Amino acid sequence: MNKQDNMENMIFSGCDTVELAKKYGTPLYVVSEDIIRERCMKIKDVFLNKYPNTMAAYASKAFLTMAMCKIIENEGLNLDVVSGGELYTAIKAGFPMGRIIFHGNNKSWDELLLAVEHNVGRIIVDNLYELEMLEEITSRQNKDINILFRVAPGIGGNTHDYISTGQKDSKFGIPLDPSVIKDIVNRTINSNNIRLLGFHFHLGSQLFENQIYVNAIEIITKLMNYLKEELDFKTLELNVGGGFGIGYTDKDTPKPIEYFTDIIMETVKLQCDKYKMPIPTIIIEPGRWIIAEAGITLYTIGVIKEIPGIRTYASIDGGLPDNPRPALYQAEYDAVVANKINQKADKVVTIAGKCCETGDILIWDLKTPDLEPGDILAVLNTGAYNFSMASNYNRLPRPAVVLVSNGSSEIIVERQTYDDLLRGEKIPSYLRG
Ligand code: LLP
Repeated sequence: MNKQDNMENMIFSGCDTVELAKKYGTPLYVVSEDIIRERCMKIKDVFLNKYPNTMAAYASKAFLTMAMCKIIENEGLNLDVVSGGELYTAIKAGFPMGRIIFHGNNKSWDELLLAVEHNVGRIIVDNLYELEMLEEITSRQNKDINILFRVAPGIGGNTHDYISTGQKDSKFGIPLDPSVIKDIVNRTINSNNIRLLGFHFHLGSQLFENQIYVNAIEIITKLMNYLKEELDFKTLELNVGGGFGIGYTDKDTPKPIEYFTDIIMETVKLQCDKYKMPIPTIIIEPGRWIIAEAGITLYTIGVIKEIPGIRTYASIDGGLPDNPRPALYQAEYDAVVANKINQKADKVVTIAGKCCETGDILIWDLKTPDLEPGDILAVLNTGAYNFSMASNYNRLPRPAVVLVSNGSSEIIVERQTYDDLLRGEKIPSYLRG
């Protein structure tokens, strides 16, 4: 975020946010192309260019539009998709299919078929059932496909339970039982169309400690060594997932990305030396770290309700449907009043969404200047898992997304209309009067 001292309004990527609110309406997702590109550049500097044989994929579940595909393509990163819908977005944006990594714990036949037909670069196979479908599809299509197996390393991240994924009791991946994994690896060695490149794990999201990656790499390299000894299987790729945390409020303790990537690379090297294995290609998959801080959401303040002796609620024209994270994960956000950026924030208000849900509170006890209806609130760091998790609860149309860069702005997703809400609906003939 860019606060300019000589102006009353908040400036974001060179754009006056109050003007953006006027021009495009609120609620409004504002995404900074400049920040996304800075983040990609940083990944190149401290990871891709520093270590040979590495790859980075943007985890598109955090935020995906066709324009985002174009930016990621242009920055030379790979793209992690997790559903037919995300894959289709990438296809329509003309994203190079060889740079797609296709995830998912329950991919359907149709989703796998779409991936095989479009020759995606890698499919992360989660389970035996998926492998069987993939064998059938590739053989019918007479196509070859690269896969990695997702393994649950048996350790969870120190994060909210709902975004911890690597633990033993998890719906993701093949449980870490060497004999089970040996059988499934052996099966692929003998497969005609499937080429097993290696393994993947993802520990969780919004992580602040790097030790968990060390622990997971120690576990996986031990497995790689076991498979080398038992089956003479050579692991060419190891995908260590994403999860690098960002600072939403000053309670968070974010670390630079190299805090994670350096120790990941160091541990892989140490372990591979120990087991006398060549170092595989290492892949990281950050989502939140690339996009969270590139996004803000602008809202207009409506009713301000003071409950004497208790608290003051300021209601906004959005809430849970455009940002479900506070309700889902007790996520905390910081915000500023965009048209009063230089005024002293000496009042305390609770920012309430407009849904008929007591739990639709975006921010508890936010410090703000004196608020009036019509003020523009900018909630910060909303780039990740906001637009991508938005719903139409209470039939609120989804906000527009505007891409800003160096003082210019352009709509990349139109605001939904009431008619968009009705799209696809039909009244059965017997109910038409
Ligand atoms: N790779 C895989 C296989 C994943 O499942 C995920 C996230 C990522 C990479 C990217 O993780 P990130 O770098 O963004 O932490 N909706 C939740 C987050 C769910 C994350 C799911 N998987 C939230 O709003 O906090």
